[in-house]
Amino acid sequence: MPGQIKKPKEGVPNGVMKGLEGVMIAESAICKIDGSVGKLWYRGYPVEELASGSSFEEVSYLLLYGKLPGPEELEGFKRSLAAERRVPRGITDIIAEEVGVAADPMHVLRTAVSALATYDNEAEDQSLEANGRKCIRLISKVSTVTAAIGREMDGKGHVEPDPSLGHVDNFMYMMHGNRMERHKLDLVEKMFMLQAEHSTNASTFSAMVTASTLSDLYSSVTSGIATLKGPLHGEADEAALRMLLEIGKPGNAEAYITKALAKKEKIMGFGHRVYKAYDPRAKIMRKEVEGLRNAASEEVRELASTAMEVERVMKEKIPPEKGIWPNIDFFAGPIYAYAGIPIELFTPIFASSRVPGWCAHVMEYWASGNKLIRPSELYTGETGLHYRRIDER
Ligand SMILES: CC(C)(COP(=O)(O)OP(=O)(O)OC[C@H]1O[C@@H](n2cnc3c(N)ncnc32)[C@H](O)[C@@H]1OP(=O)(O)O)[C@@H](O)C(=O)NCCC(=O)NCCS
Repeated sequence: MPGQIKKPKEGVPNGVMKGLEGVMIAESAICKIDGSVGKLWYRGYPVEELASGSSFEEVSYLLLYGKLPGPEELEGFKRSLAAERRVPRGITDIIAEEVGVAADPMHVLRTAVSALATYDNEAEDQSLEANGRKCIRLISKVSTVTAAIGREMDGKGHVEPDPSLGHVDNFMYMMHGNRMERHKLDLVEKMFMLQAEHSTNASTFSAMVTASTLSDLYSSVTSGIATLKGPLHGEADEAALRMLLEIGKPGNAEAYITKALAKKEKIMGFGHRVYKAYDPRAKIMRKEVEGLRNAASEEVRELASTAMEVERVMKEKIPPEKGIWPNIDFFAGPIYAYAGIPIELFTPIFASSRVPGWCAHVMEYWASGNKLIRPSELYTGETGLHYRRIDER
């Protein structure tokens, strides 16, 4: 049946590169991944160093402009972001209307971000300056839209942004209606930094394909959001937490994983197209989740302990040469549960944090001399058929 999802065919027939695996589509100086040793750099800086000392704003600046900002540049950038946080009333109206009917907040996010273009009189201005301003607008406003979706889902009113707060601090303030404590904020900020960019992943590629037609930045980011939505990409963090909740407690992990692997099911939050060694982002967040085994909340303690046990069982069951290790999505669940973020918002939050990466790649692709991205396919259908009118068939 057309549209039914099947396992990919074995081998690579006649030059078809299924999933574009290993195909390089551009030169880029934004992000380097060495999947064989589990290393990741943004603009040459190891993510471990950025995650421990930087901020989401500084990482966004680095990704967009290719260098770390000086103190005045960072202050100016933060001010520009803070000044762009508000979204028009029309957008909060769309959110209020759609949250009640849409099954998935990613539908609402995608629609609202697409609609943002209609309020931007620079939406069609393709000058470098206007596109630079749109990057800043999008980084700010996608987070505001996500927070507004979270509030609406909770049946609570929209909280206007506070320009005196940092990006993540303000985001959590808009979500909860009050400031979040420092440790929780630090962990969410780490997630934002570690999810800000990841080379030519599926959603970034989507954003680039859209940009390559010389469409606009809002369309590109909307494409990125649409592609991020799938469970093999952004929604893996939700799927991983649902699995941990289903397992329930560490003692159930071994039986659950054994049964799932015997049925050839994928364990959500494990495996990666590029990392065949431990995902360095997961390594950073794993340490934090390990610490959450002593959290005040019993639910968080249980989740963190179950995650650790699932990891142990997977290590025991899967030979290391298969290269299936936890990815960052696996550890997002316990971290966001600790920060009081509902599961339905994980992927919208992932999208909010990925906007700098999408924008940086689109800007770089345009600056490098845009070329329409238009691959080919191997036609395997019929030829030589002749049309007959419906009453003659
Ligand atoms: C991310 C992912 C799509 C990468 O896929 P890929 O590079 O196309 O690799 P494949 O899906 O072809 O998997 C290769 C092999 O590893 C196994 N494998 C991959 N991920 C697995 C997982 N999470 N659990 C169990 N086995 C897994 C496959 O079953 C396959 O085994 P086989 O060779 O015996 O058939 C895949 O690992 C996956 O679906 N993971 C779960 C979803 C997830 O966490 N996504 C977030 C990515 S950041």
